[in-house]
Amino acid sequence: MNYIYKIGVLFGIVLLFSTSCQSEKKDKEEIKIGTKKEKISSFDLGKSVFNGKGKCYTCHKIDKKSIGPGVIDIIKIYEEQNGDLIAFLKQEAEPIVDPETYAVMKTNFAIIKTFTEEELKAVTVYMNEMGKGKTE
Ligand code: HEC
Repeated sequence: MNYIYKIGVLFGIVLLFSTSCQSEKKDKEEIKIGTKKEKISSFDLGKSVFNGKGKCYTCHKIDKKSIGPGVIDIIKIYEEQNGDLIAFLKQEAEPIVDPETYAVMKTNFAIIKTFTEEELKAVTVYMNEMGKGKTE
């Protein structure tokens, strides 16, 4: 009887160890997934800037004109005329889409100037991909 009791306790201890080891492993795996997620793609970064702090979306819809021209139209004209989106957003190139309403777009350069180089590039990646018909 005593013998069986001892085996039972031993078995319990082994079981306890193996399950606690397992949960430790799980924690590590979750951390790995977490750091992977932080590596956000240019497209996703651009999307969040375009719709978020850049507020571009308030004037630029993807497939239709609103206050500003639609992204598809902008990209089409930039492709046709070999334009440089980054240069435009850095105010190093003249507007080629709708110069008559450029004054409205000009009000945004204050915000655009606060973008990091990476964010600026990401916005152009996002606009390019959406302009070429990528669906999110
Ligand atoms: C208040 C409205 C408004 C907001 C907000 C806005 N835009 Fe514009 N945007 C315009 C208007 C109007 C035009 C058309 C004038 C022109 O072509 O410059 C334009 C034109 C453009 C063009 C074409 C430029 C060209 O060569 O003619 C690009 C690229 C552009 N916007 C990018 C952006 C980005 C990126 C953002 C966000 C950081 C943004 N816009 C936010 C109104 C806006």
